[in-house]
Amino acid sequence: MKRAGNLIIGYFYTMNLRLPAFILSLLIIQALSAKAQWDDTDRLKPSFHKGRRDAFRALMPEKSVAIFFANPTRTRSNDVDYQYSQDPNFYYLSGYLEPNAILFIFKDSINLDGNQVNEMIFIQQRNPKREVWTGQRLGVDGVKKNLGFQAVYNGADFKEFGLDFAKFNQILVKYPDAPSNEKDDPADIADLSDQVKEKIHAFEDKVDNGIAFRLLNQLREVKLPEELVLMQKAIDISNVGFIEMMKALNPTMTEYQVQAIVEYHMKKNGSEYPGYGSIAGSGANGCVLHYTFNRKQLADGELLLTDMGAEYHNYTADITRTIPVNGKFSAEQKIIYQLVLDAQNAGIAACIAGNDFRSTHKATTEVVTKGLLNLGIIKSESDYRLYFMHGTSHYLGLDVHDAGTFGPLKVGAVITVEPGIYIPKGSNCDPRWWNIGIRIEDDVLITDTQPRILSGALPREIADIEQLMSK
Ligand code: GLY
Ligand code: MN
Ligand code: MN
Repeated sequence: MKRAGNLIIGYFYTMNLRLPAFILSLLIIQALSAKAQWDDTDRLKPSFHKGRRDAFRALMPEKSVAIFFANPTRTRSNDVDYQYSQDPNFYYLSGYLEPNAILFIFKDSINLDGNQVNEMIFIQQRNPKREVWTGQRLGVDGVKKNLGFQAVYNGADFKEFGLDFAKFNQILVKYPDAPSNEKDDPADIADLSDQVKEKIHAFEDKVDNGIAFRLLNQLREVKLPEELVLMQKAIDISNVGFIEMMKALNPTMTEYQVQAIVEYHMKKNGSEYPGYGSIAGSGANGCVLHYTFNRKQLADGELLLTDMGAEYHNYTADITRTIPVNGKFSAEQKIIYQLVLDAQNAGIAACIAGNDFRSTHKATTEVVTKGLLNLGIIKSESDYRLYFMHGTSHYLGLDVHDAGTFGPLKVGAVITVEPGIYIPKGSNCDPRWWNIGIRIEDDVLITDTQPRILSGALPREIADIEQLMSK
């Protein structure tokens, strides 16, 4: 985003219209940033984040303080950053979407300027000069008004801020990894993290860097209804992209055009970004588990494996469909596809509250192993791993591989069920199976009765896929 201003100004400079151009470009940038994130009426409410802080506090050890850092910004190249993405724990507990912030949660209230508070947040100071380039910051007043925090300070105030760490029995903190220190910002995340280190230096024996994360794994595993609304929206938006792509698919296209169609519809329907690098692998590339190069020309007779998910208001979908490029599965493709689908159905049937987290993998591997043995593709049971080399499930939510405890499945958890069979060229089996790479992935909510397939509106059956693709 640093670059947007440069591009616009540069464009007008080439037209020899320097001063008016500069003013005009400022107006354009202002207009672009006028629709702030807070105009979205379906974002999580401050009461959600406050409720999560209260739930976290209830689990904190006696007389402890927890300190959370916003994600650092990351340089892509030279003066261009990667799109900023807030740390999911920080977002969950605060709702704050900007970098350079620290959140404190106290088990017991402390006295701050005559007020009893049990949490406080230090945030990015407003800065009109910087805001011309990167858009409006919420600032102290905005955080009070929009996020409902009472004790809000600028990051720059933290250095001199008096907080007596001696009175805590435990300090729960994990420092951000290698944040770069911007010279002209005295309160970026590198400075804030150094300042925290300095302040708690004398209390090293009280520091713990694991407890807070374990508690958040516990909390984030179980989605609240308002989180499920956003997840369903992310999934529905992704489904639109997949359906439009399936209708348009033909062998003249490239992998990146497949990606473009899905991502176009995701973006068009309100998704901010893909939740992870989009995978569109055709033919041999379908056998590369996390293939994201997506540059190959498709070919008649190949399969196409597409694994994509829209992120919507920080929650992501994670869906995979494998489809024939020409709209019709070959005989061999049909056989392996049906086997993966049967395995997936067995995995989904295991999505029952109380079942061990590994029970979906147990169910899918049983089906895959039996099927591969029957087809003569493997000779011994343990060889299923040659062709199904990843797990079946992970939690889904703010992260694509989301936080959770990996214990018994809980009501309200969302997990993926994504078995696959990948038979690269040269595998030790009949060559008619070579270059078949198939994964089918759906997002499943654990309920107190049967599993709910949140992505279930997207066709999975062979006949349904072929019918959709004939349109
Ligand atoms: N899209 C990554 C995964 O399926 O885990
Ligand atoms: Mn997945
Ligand atoms: Mn996936």
